[in-house]
Amino acid sequence: MQVIYPGSFDPVTYGHIDIIDRCSKKFDKVIVSVLNNRAKKNLFTIEERVEFLEKALKDYDNVEIDTFSGLLVDYARKKGCTTVVRGLRAVSDFEYEMQMALMNKKLEKDIETLFMVSSGKYAYLSSSIVKEVAMFGGDISCFVPAEVEKALREKIKGGLK
Ligand code: PNS
Repeated sequence: MQVIYPGSFDPVTYGHIDIIDRCSKKFDKVIVSVLNNRAKKNLFTIEERVEFLEKALKDYDNVEIDTFSGLLVDYARKKGCTTVVRGLRAVSDFEYEMQMALMNKKLEKDIETLFMVSSGKYAYLSSSIVKEVAMFGGDISCFVPAEVEKALREKIKGGLK
């Protein structure tokens, strides 16, 4: 079975990588799909976000990195994949995730959303909080790959847009 793991990945964190690692052991193929949405203000470009993922996941034979725009259900149909995986960190994630899963189901009845509970050690991690910690000079080396850490530092030095 193949699954889609969609997200903004702005930038990828060890929390995402942990979910992808665990999915790669449970499913034949994991398609990590990065949302390319010009309307959404991301810190990193789509190319940068894809490159971070490609580097971090280069050793996984059954993980594909892809991008999508528009509706997730349309993209899923194009990929011939009806299973979406989302990570769940805390109760606070639940409402939004439930809303998305139900909307996707309404749009496309064959779509199933599977929730994978994040590992305890990453339960407090998010791309936004990592960016905030980095912005104020905190150590983020245990939250993101070295490549991402370096790029974040450079963005911050150059002045965040
Ligand atoms: O990492 P994120 O930002 O929580 O990921 C959210 C994402 C990309 C999965 C979600 O915003 C999405 O699927 N966007 C595509 C547009 C869409 O299909 N919207 C309707 C379902 S809510």
